Amino acid sequence: MGSLRDGYRAAVIGATGAIGGAVANHLAADPRCAEVRRFGRRPVAGETPLDVTDEASIAAAAEDVGEIHLLFIATGGLIVGEHRPEKALSQLNAEALQAQFALNAVGPALALKHFHRSLPRGERSLVGALSARVGSIGDNGLGGWYGYRAAKAALNQYMRAASVEIARSRKQAALAALHPATVESDLSKPFRPAGAGDPVIFTPAQSAEALLHVLDGLSSEQSGGFWAYDGSAIPW
Ligand SMILES: NC(=O)c1ccc[n+]([C@@H]2O[C@H](COP(=O)([O-])OP(=O)(O)OC[C@H]3O[C@@H](n4cnc5c(N)ncnc54)[C@H](OP(=O)(O)O)[C@@H]3O)[C@@H](O)[C@H]2O)c1
Repeated sequence: MGSLRDGYRAAVIGATGAIGGAVANHLAADPRCAEVRRFGRRPVAGETPLDVTDEASIAAAAEDVGEIHLLFIATGGLIVGEHRPEKALSQLNAEALQAQFALNAVGPALALKHFHRSLPRGERSLVGALSARVGSIGDNGLGGWYGYRAAKAALNQYMRAASVEIARSRKQAALAALHPATVESDLSKPFRPAGAGDPVIFTPAQSAEALLHVLDGLSSEQSGGFWAYDGSAIPW
């Protein structure tokens, strides 16, 4: 990550996931990176377990993280519990919609709440959160997947709002909601190759490299945007 200072420190939330794990590995292989903290709801590498639906666990994990120049939030789910994405209005279920919102929107927002304090004030920092192109309202021509789409749209709004606030105290910060491509993982397996209209299916390592490249290239003036893996802007 050439835009961060030499010896930068990073934290990945959802480091047990396909994309989160690949992001953490990519950062760990960067000679400029001094340390990568990996958080998961199952404890990873001796870290405090972090469940994004349990704010106390987020606060506990953030407490001793120290200064971080890069925060990557890679948690999320498409099937939550036994609830599969809806194909029709008749399948809407209040409990499933709330579970989607808790995991894909509120969880990352609470992670921002507790971890943004660890971003340095006088240096460049980066925050990426895994959204999905299907969270774009403007790009929604297919319908369906009500809960997942709406939760990702809300995540995008949380990222945008946080970018405005964080810019007041950390002028060199850049936040981004990111679409990782259609990526080989447990999450996408039942739905491939339909994906989100992406022309290719990426391995997690390809996605991680592309996303970190996009983040690295963002200016602070671009903070709060919604970007695809190839650096193209996605409509809200
Ligand atoms: N794969 C794709 O094609 C694709 C496309 C668009 C967007 N995305 C987004 O990319 C993100 C990562 O997806 P992926 O493909 O890497 O899926 P994945 O391999 O299933 O990873 C999901 C990650 O989220 C974690 N997680 C789930 N619930 C959690 C909770 N309550 N607290 C903390 N962690 C929790 C999982 O932890 P466990 O290991 O403990 O289950 C895992 O680390 C998701 O937000 C997804 O919506 C993926």
